[in-house]
Amino acid sequence: MKSKKVLKAVFPVAGLGTRFLPATKSIPKEIMTLVDRPLIQYAIDEARAAGIKEFIFVTSRGKSALEDYFDYAPELESELRKKGKTDLLEVLKDTNMDSGAIAYVRQNRPMGLGHAVWCARRLIGNEPFAVLLPDDVIAAEKPCLQQMVEAYAETGGNMVAAMEVPPEKASSYGVLDIGSDMGSIVEAKGMVEKPPAGTAPSNLAVIGRYILSPQVLTNLNKIKQGAGGEIQLTDAIAEEIGKSKVYGYRFRGQRYDCGSKAGFLQATVAFGLSRPDLRDEFSAYLHDMVALQKAAQ
Ligand code: G1P
Repeated sequence: MKSKKVLKAVFPVAGLGTRFLPATKSIPKEIMTLVDRPLIQYAIDEARAAGIKEFIFVTSRGKSALEDYFDYAPELESELRKKGKTDLLEVLKDTNMDSGAIAYVRQNRPMGLGHAVWCARRLIGNEPFAVLLPDDVIAAEKPCLQQMVEAYAETGGNMVAAMEVPPEKASSYGVLDIGSDMGSIVEAKGMVEKPPAGTAPSNLAVIGRYILSPQVLTNLNKIKQGAGGEIQLTDAIAEEIGKSKVYGYRFRGQRYDCGSKAGFLQATVAFGLSRPDLRDEFSAYLHDMVALQKAAQ
């Protein structure tokens, strides 16, 4: 065991979610649902499964629905209790956080992912921490962050989730320059955020799960604006290469890019089909829809 336990996780949720306007005019993107669970619930469930005990949200104006979501709802709960709806009371349990387990800090200007994480520096302190980007929803038998925590217990250092993407898509991601490739774990010799087309060092992309050392926060103190004029988390992690280890972890699971409409729809279909209460009806419907589409062509 080379590393300290990871007990804190940062959830950057300050983004405006403009790709989902008009919905996001009045609801935070992270409250949008895959079937009946908000995006943020999937990220919280994954963090809990990985042993996270403290949840730090980096929010912005207009995100108060997120705070309410994780609060107790005494009127609703007593109504459900009166009506004997114990199954729904059970469903609500996942949304409740122990007092003191959740903290909110505001990012008052949209200056990028690195800046959002930096806003949480005083709450993180001097220990390793996880970052989960709720837009990246990962369906996996063993939740992705749990896989990473187990790998990190052996490696220490810094670790990012990684996935092969089609080369023409690499410029939408942080990309690893592969030093040594051990299969599920890769040691990075470089990392670049959103490389211009044709310049990516590999097609191994960073996906939104990170386990980072507090040195990355120190690096963020002095990081200059990078890709897109933003303070990039990738750049602060890349600073560590040569000083400590930076690993990519090829997780087992299916990642959905719920920051895009197509990805969100794909996740909705996949999660709908994986639900025992919906599977039969929904798959019969999809089957008919596909047949209709084909007939119309
Ligand atoms: C962020 C990170 C990028 C990573 C991506 C994964 O980018 O900056 O390194 O590859 O998430 O989803 P964004 O998609 O927020 O532009």
